[in-house]
Amino acid sequence: MRALGTLSFLFLLWSAVAVPVHEPSAGALEVPGTKCSIIDNRREWRDLTTEQRSKYIDAVKCLHKLPPRDKTRAATTRFEEFQATHILLTDRVHLVGHFLPWHRHLGTLYGRALQEECGYDGPTTYWDWTRDDMNLPLLNSPIFDSVTGFGGDGVEGTYTLPSDPTNQTGIFPFPGQQASKIWKGCVQDGPFRDWVVHLGPGRMNTAHCLVRGVNEFMRSAYTVASVENVLGSKTFESFRLIIDRLPGVHGGGHAMVGGEMTNTYSAGADPLFYLHHGGLDRLWWKWQQADPTNRLYAISGPTTQRGRDNVTLDFEIDFPALGPNITVRDTMDSSLYPNCFTYE
Ligand SMILES: *[C@@H]1O[C@H](CO)[C@@H](O)[C@H](O)[C@H]1NC(C)=O
Ligand SMILES: *[C@@H]1O[C@H](CO)[C@@H](O)[C@H](O)[C@H]1NC(C)=O
Ligand SMILES: *[C@@H]1O[C@H](CO)[C@@H](O)[C@H](O)[C@H]1NC(C)=O
Repeated sequence: MRALGTLSFLFLLWSAVAVPVHEPSAGALEVPGTKCSIIDNRREWRDLTTEQRSKYIDAVKCLHKLPPRDKTRAATTRFEEFQATHILLTDRVHLVGHFLPWHRHLGTLYGRALQEECGYDGPTTYWDWTRDDMNLPLLNSPIFDSVTGFGGDGVEGTYTLPSDPTNQTGIFPFPGQQASKIWKGCVQDGPFRDWVVHLGPGRMNTAHCLVRGVNEFMRSAYTVASVENVLGSKTFESFRLIIDRLPGVHGGGHAMVGGEMTNTYSAGADPLFYLHHGGLDRLWWKWQQADPTNRLYAISGPTTQRGRDNVTLDFEIDFPALGPNITVRDTMDSSLYPNCFTYE
């Protein structure tokens, strides 16, 4: 009892003194694993009001005007800082057990930046590909609308991939797809038509337009039946593998948007990266919610691409320049800090 008393006294002292000293922001109250005071009810792009969509786009543009927090790295804006973190960690966070946890937290940090740094007051949004009419071209999706969406396709002949052989690594290996067709050209309509990104392609740092090469390739991965099939996975291991398998429901979305989205490293140049990954995260969330007792904290898969050790809940994941390290456990229950979201 006495030891316990001392411990809780020390804990009180720690919470009273240490936390405010190290975390002067509102984040001081956000102890991982505790209940959230506000829940972000994430909503699909077409379920946002027109005003919310326009505010979301404005916030993305705002993020790309803000300076990076860490000026020692290659990112020239706060938006690029998220892309830069993904580029830096690509080989550590893909085809591994913490692929979904890491991308979940990246999406949370990005959504929070739009809200806290750029005044977006709507829900975090995602892309549910199954809602696009399979009988119509993909470009008919409201996602690609030039007024209430992210703009459409790239224009052929307006962009040439630089020919640096070392840094262009990471283009998804889609069978039979030529790089020149996938990297079609600069997006010239919609809110990002004048967009300049300074990171990519791959690990190169070049100033270039937003490149897309929208195509129907892989749409079969996004029928209601294919997605139901993914959700039917019995174990986290089979769920993880079916999401990550190339080309599958993860790579497929990257391939359909084309351009920079097809580069494993620099895909985050396209704001659609976060809508696509939001869609994947929602699948994971739905899979967890279907049997929370067994699935909420289910995790497996290698800690490194070539390793044999499995990721555990205590495995630490990092987000250089974006936020503190957390553990895989911290990402599992979306209703607890640091997540604080649900899907409608
Ligand atoms: C190639 O990538 C490295 C990091 O891997 C970077 O330091 C270098 O600047 C890149 N080269 C170009 C031409 O972008
Ligand atoms: C890792 O997890 C998989 C799937 O659950 C399992 O088959 C494998 O034996 C585990 N590997 C190790 C080294 O524990
Ligand atoms: C965060 O994680 C990275 C990668 O595991 C590690 O190198 C770094 O030391 C950690 N930072 C802190 C503050 O623990």
